[in-house]
Amino acid sequence: MKKVTFAILGMGNRGTAYAGRQLKFPEEMEVVAMADNRRVRLDAANKYLNLPEDRLFDGADAILSQPKLADIMVIATQDAQHRDHAVRAMELGYDLLLEKPISNKLEDIVYITETAKRLGRTVIVCHVLRYTAFYREIKRLVSEGVVGKVQSVEAMEQVGYYHYAHSYVRGNWHKEADSSPMILAKCSHDMDIIPWLVDKKCLKLNSFGSLAYFKAENCPEGATERCFDCKVENCPFHAPNFYLSRMPGWPTHILHPEPNEENILEALRTSNYGKCVFKMDNDVVDHQTVQMLLEDGVTCTFQMIGFTNDQTRTIRIMGTEGEIWGDFHSRKVYWQCFNQEVHEIDLEKICTDFSGHGGGDSGLVYDVIRLYRGDDFDTSAITFLNRSAESHYMAFAAEASRVAGGQLVDMEEFVAKL
Ligand SMILES: NC(=O)c1ccc[n+]([C@@H]2O[C@H](COP(=O)([O-])OP(=O)(O)OC[C@H]3O[C@@H](n4cnc5c(N)ncnc54)[C@H](O)[C@@H]3O)[C@@H](O)[C@H]2O)c1
Repeated sequence: MKKVTFAILGMGNRGTAYAGRQLKFPEEMEVVAMADNRRVRLDAANKYLNLPEDRLFDGADAILSQPKLADIMVIATQDAQHRDHAVRAMELGYDLLLEKPISNKLEDIVYITETAKRLGRTVIVCHVLRYTAFYREIKRLVSEGVVGKVQSVEAMEQVGYYHYAHSYVRGNWHKEADSSPMILAKCSHDMDIIPWLVDKKCLKLNSFGSLAYFKAENCPEGATERCFDCKVENCPFHAPNFYLSRMPGWPTHILHPEPNEENILEALRTSNYGKCVFKMDNDVVDHQTVQMLLEDGVTCTFQMIGFTNDQTRTIRIMGTEGEIWGDFHSRKVYWQCFNQEVHEIDLEKICTDFSGHGGGDSGLVYDVIRLYRGDDFDTSAITFLNRSAESHYMAFAAEASRVAGGQLVDMEEFVAKL
């Protein structure tokens, strides 16, 4: 059977993760071209793919000035670059696997959606959670009505204090103007997954939240600009302690593709990753809530929170006859009808690949391969652009509400104004 071919634009954390799927699906997929404006990233990704030099491109312009090289282009550059890269790739004839968020600007989302429609391109947005055993099992239980009619959902994204500090204080998503509001950057997944799980659209929402802690006024006395010389004791955000203790695991490869002690220390000396978390120019919120009214009176409370030990998502779905609940990282899902026994579903018994977003990276790529080959399978969960756009509209509406002090937003009215 013909392999589905991929060209990848942006060989950072995400682009490299998608390239790595070729090792999982060697008979089904082939990465035939890669582009990044940092040679060190291209070389690192090519260590295991061994593409010839003429298939490595030193930036977006270089690959997008070629004719179409593959069936699908993966757009894995930064949020603010998606519009330009996605539109140019579609004009060349590519179907896309587009990293979320679709874009960091509302008008760009509308433009990318219209362009895909006009050109007849298939665009799948990387809402990897939909492809995990955890959420698919919950979706199955809800669809089978094991706890009756769903009345309410409580969901929490526990970002984790260390992930929050790495990505949203020091890292790529610390400034809204350069990246995205937090509710879009981190929670477009949640805005996608919640209505999908219960099969109800969001009708109204409002939101509260702020950047409360990671700012100058909370800086401990004597803290220095960079953590190296800092005398503040037991700081959980001390960069050398944090990164050196995690080598070579996530997120050290983001600091350097070869995360050894020398390279990490050099990155901490020269990049934001070595700076004090109270002396950055970050402006994205560190905690936010969204209250939603979904169809048929279903209510939902969602929280994004940076102040947690664990990095996970938890969910509780309450129906007329019982509850379904779980913690993403525990690899278990539970349900219980009122006054009856608790049922435990051990996901390790039904799934073997929990790598990359709990198996979501592999699940997404495999569904894309099957879709592209024309396999006969259920495509109702696939995150096509128009489905994904709804989650982005919810995120932008929530952000507008938060900025307006929690004002109620009617989703139909919000979308009608776009
Ligand atoms: N699906 C998910 O769960 C998920 C998780 C994390 C990030 N993301 C999203 O994925 C995207 C990529 O994030 P990342 O963490 O991989 O970031 P990253 O910074 O690690 O990777 C982006 C890469 O793009 C390259 N690049 C920048 N400008 C370029 C250009 N003009 N031409 C070619 N390459 C260029 C950079 O050198 C970098 O290697 C972002 O939109 C991010 O929000 C999605």
